[in-house]
Order: sequence, then C-alpha cells, then structure tokens
Amino acid sequence: MVGDETSAEEATRTDRATAIRLDGVTVNFEDVRALENVDLRVDDGEFVTVIGPSGCGKTTLLRTVGGLQDPTAGTVRVGRDSPDAARRDGEFGFVFQRHALLPWKSALANVVFLREMAGKSPDREAARDLLGTVGLAGFEESRPAELSGGMRQRVAIARALHLGASVLLMDEPFGELDELTREEMGVEVRRVWRDRNKTVLFVTHSVPEAVFLADRCVVMSDQPGEIAAVFDVELPRPRDESVYGTTAFQEQVARVRTALHEGYELR
Ligand SMILES: Nc1ncnc2c1ncn2[C@@H]1O[C@H](COP(=O)(O)OP(=O)(O)OP(=O)(O)O)[C@@H](O)[C@H]1O
Ligand SMILES: [Mg+2]
Repeated sequence: MVGDETSAEEATRTDRATAIRLDGVTVNFEDVRALENVDLRVDDGEFVTVIGPSGCGKTTLLRTVGGLQDPTAGTVRVGRDSPDAARRDGEFGFVFQRHALLPWKSALANVVFLREMAGKSPDREAARDLLGTVGLAGFEESRPAELSGGMRQRVAIARALHLGASVLLMDEPFGELDELTREEMGVEVRRVWRDRNKTVLFVTHSVPEAVFLADRCVVMSDQPGEIAAVFDVELPRPRDESVYGTTAFQEQVARVRTALHEGYELR
C-alpha cells in the first residue's frame, strides 16, 4: 500500500507546474544585505524546507515570496502572478512561530475571522471540519489561553487552510514546541499537505525537522543568505515517526548538517 502511494507521488512530480520561482533575488535593507542572488523553484504540491543560521535571511525569503517584502533585485513569480497579486488573491496562508490568534475569540471564531477579513464568505461548518482535520474536534469553543502551544499552532494551520490558500508559508511554526509535540505536528502537517494538495515552503532551525518534512531541503549560508545546497530527500512517503529511527534518515540529517557547517565557513 505504501509502495503504491509512493509510485503515484513520484509519477506526478515530473509533470508539475512551478508554484514559486525566484530568479536572482537580492534583498538589501539599509546597511544589511539579507539575501544574495537566490534562485529557487518550488513545484506545485511540493514540500520544501529551508534551514540556515540565524539572521541568514529565511524570514526575508518567505516575506519576499509572500509579497510582504519587495526584492532589491531579481524577480519572484507565484504561478503566473507577482507575489503581491497572489497575496491579494488569497493564495498564501502564513503560519508564524507565534500563532497570533485573537485571545478573546474561540478556536472556531479565530479560524473563521481571517477568512472574513480577506473578504471571503466564512463557512463555520468547513471551519469545524478543518479543526477536526488538525486534531482539535471538541475544542471549537476553547479560547487560545485554554489551549496548549501545539494546539494553538493547529488552530493557526486550520486558519491558513480555511483561507483557501494554495501555498503555505510557514516560518518556524513549531519553534516553541517541545520535541515530541514538534515531531507529532510534523506528521500532521505532512498529512494535511498531502490530503489537501498544498505547496509548502517551511522555515526551520531544526535539522531533523527540515529533513523529516521535506521533499527537498534548501540549506542557506550565513548572512547574506545564499543557497548553499539543495537536497532531494529520499525517504518513505507517506512518512510517520518511525522514519526518525532509520539509517536513511540519519544519513540525510548528517548530510544537511555538513552543508550547514560549510555554509558558515563560506563567510
Ligand atoms: N525590516 C528590516 N529592516 C532592516 N533589517 C532587516 C529587516 N528584516 C530583516 N532584517 C535583517 O536582515 C537579516 C536577515 O533577517 P531575517 O529575519 O530574514 O533572518 P532569519 O534567517 O529569519 O533569522 P532567524 O533565524 O533568527 O529568524 C538580519 O540581519 C536582519 O537584521
Ligand atoms: Mg526568521
């Protein structure tokens, strides 16, 4: 069964359209060059992770893709659109390290609210289903303060999905969670990504997380951020926690770690 799903996924990969494309993207702030000459393509439906040292420009990369930051040089396309047009069309779901839920609203109301703000008709039943999908059935009426950190991030993911976004831009969304919850969330996010056919660009500081989640893992060098290496991650699809114990996983983690250190030494 697992083998069948693997070959089905592999078969579609080569036919996919490009969801995100960066060509020669440089981003300067006043006295800082945050990104330097970044070329990157992400296929429709692909899960790409980005890892690199603190301050190397990962958040800047996500913001540039998401139309929140203009590049100083180079071009960014999201499908056929500019990032700004894609953002206005609601193509992006942002999930950040801090969930940014409204504390006075219930989980369900938080999921619905962002869609309302985006001018789309909210659908409470669909929002309820999404909370079920991310494992929060029964917590619809709980306020953020009554939920654990992992549960709040689940609400934030459901909220991004409810927006109808095709591209999820995730910036260290599990950064504040303990290791076990993180691993569990990783399994969930891959499941949601598969079931709903999203494209994901996911920033993390954790090497195991970057490898576990990825179809491809992008390693960035120290500031200014350049792409130091890109790895195709050949691990079973679908993936569950048992992957963490395999030799193939450990070897891939070691390769990414080496590339990270080499990225440091470039400077
Ligand atoms: N709005 C801004 N104005 C000025 N400088 C900025 C701005 N945003 C980011 N920078 C600078 O650009 C560089 C890259 O920042 P960025 O937040 O993209 O790094 P990062 O890789 O996400 O770091 P971290 O892993 O710590 O989150 C840093 O030197 C940062 O100080
Ligand atoms: Mg960051």
